[in-house]
Amino acid sequence: MSSKRVKIYVEELLAEDKRIAVSAGTMLGNTTYYCENSFIPKEPWTEISNGEYKRLLLTRDQIKDRDTVGVFKIPNDILNKAKQIGIDKLSNQNQIAPLFLKEKELLVDFNESINDFLHSIAIRKWRKLHGLFVSSPISEQTVAKVSTDSKLMGLHIDNTLSFEVTSLGRSPNRICFNFGEEDRYLLFVDLTINSILNLLEAKGIRITSKNGQRISEAQITELFFRNFPDYPVIKVKVKKGELYIAPTDNIIHDGAHYGKQKPDICLVVLGYFRPFI
Ligand SMILES: [Fe+2]
Repeated sequence: MSSKRVKIYVEELLAEDKRIAVSAGTMLGNTTYYCENSFIPKEPWTEISNGEYKRLLLTRDQIKDRDTVGVFKIPNDILNKAKQIGIDKLSNQNQIAPLFLKEKELLVDFNESINDFLHSIAIRKWRKLHGLFVSSPISEQTVAKVSTDSKLMGLHIDNTLSFEVTSLGRSPNRICFNFGEEDRYLLFVDLTINSILNLLEAKGIRITSKNGQRISEAQITELFFRNFPDYPVIKVKVKKGELYIAPTDNIIHDGAHYGKQKPDICLVVLGYFRPFI
C-alpha cells in the first residue's frame, strides 16, 4: 500500500529565505478559541534541511499532477490593478462593497485580468469565486472558521462539491492570491486523503459510514491526528504579492498569520487549475 506524498513547487526560492518549516506533530486546539476535537500544529517549528528540501520540493519540470502545492508571484498586471483599486489597503470585510462601488471601472478591468489569468491555468471550465476575505491578524495557529462568529475549526479538509471522501482526489483545487501587505502561510499535511485512509486501514482503522450517512472530512482528520500525533505539518510562507494553488479538498490544511501586524487580504477562487503558471 503506497502513500502518496504531496510536494511543493515554489517559484522564488532564495537561499536566505526561510520559507518552509515542519511542526513537531499536532495537538488539540484550546477550546477557548477552537471547536471541540480541533487539531493544530504542535510547536516548535523546524526549518527544513537540505535533504528534506529535496524530498519535498519539486522543480518546475517535475510537476506532474494536481496534487502539488504551487507558490508563485501574482502576475504584475493583476497586482498593479489590485493596488490601483486599493485592495491592499482594505482593513475589514465591510469596506469591500463601498470600495468596489467607488472603483467600478477599475474593478471591471481587474476582473478581466483575473479571468484571463485563471483561464490560462484552467484544465477544466468550471470555476467559482469563493470570495475576497479581509481579516485582522489572528494570533492562534490557524485561521479558518466555520462561520465568521464561530470558533476556529483547526486543520481541516475542504469539500467544495460534497464529494464522497474517496473521490476527493478528483475535487477542484483552489487558488489564493495574497493581496495583503505582509506574508501569510499555508499549513498542510503532505498526504492525500486516500493515503490517509490507507494509513489508517494499515493500523486496522477502517472508517465506515453509520446509518447510511456519508463519512465526513472531519472524521478523517480527527482519526488521522489521534493516530499519528507526531506526523509533521508543513508550513509554507506565501509572501505578499504571491499566490498559492493547492488541492485543499485532498489535503488536511489551513492558513496561518504568524507574526502578521496588518490585515490579511486574500482572494480565493475554486476551480480545476494546474499547479504551475
Ligand atoms: Fe480550507
